[in-house]
Amino acid sequence: MKHHILQIGNPVLRQIAQELSITDILSASTRELIDLMKNIMWEAPGVGLAAPQIGKSLQIVTIEDKADYTRGISAEQLAERKRRAVPFHILINPKIINKSDEQAEFFEACLSGNRLIGLVKRALRVQVKGLNEKAEPVIIDAEGWYARILQHEIDHLNGILCIDHMCPRSMSTLENYTHYWKFKSVQEVQKELNC
Ligand code: NI
Repeated sequence: MKHHILQIGNPVLRQIAQELSITDILSASTRELIDLMKNIMWEAPGVGLAAPQIGKSLQIVTIEDKADYTRGISAEQLAERKRRAVPFHILINPKIINKSDEQAEFFEACLSGNRLIGLVKRALRVQVKGLNEKAEPVIIDAEGWYARILQHEIDHLNGILCIDHMCPRSMSTLENYTHYWKFKSVQEVQKELNC
């Protein structure tokens, strides 16, 4: 049976998640939660998962963008999105400490988004600081799709969902996105939808 991921409208998704202390991070219950999050993210599958999405209002995210996930996407689209594989990792109490003024706009969806997808503008580059599962400090400099994933997941810890950033007129079901928009350039979509 597939694990349940909370969907838009659930109040937990709108809460500010709690920070973890060093003791919390090193506890058996956090280790178990991280294992569970990893499995749920793989099962979904998704490129990121935040603990609030499984009903735990805690500042933990898991991220992995597998090369496998990009099989159906053209080399041109991958290059446009600056999307490269990202190995599995965990971030605890993450904060964006720098973001570029330069932005990129692409269709984005969420495992909690009830199969909605839409155009979302994000900073092209971010610098994030946080802790890993050993409670060691980490600093990440990310660009392109990875920077987008980080912004999306960190938003979850602050009660923000990607639908909050979507150009409303671009909001689409996944089925209609695949049918009408997926193979158009973002510029074409923006023009056609007036986004
Ligand atoms: Ni999400």
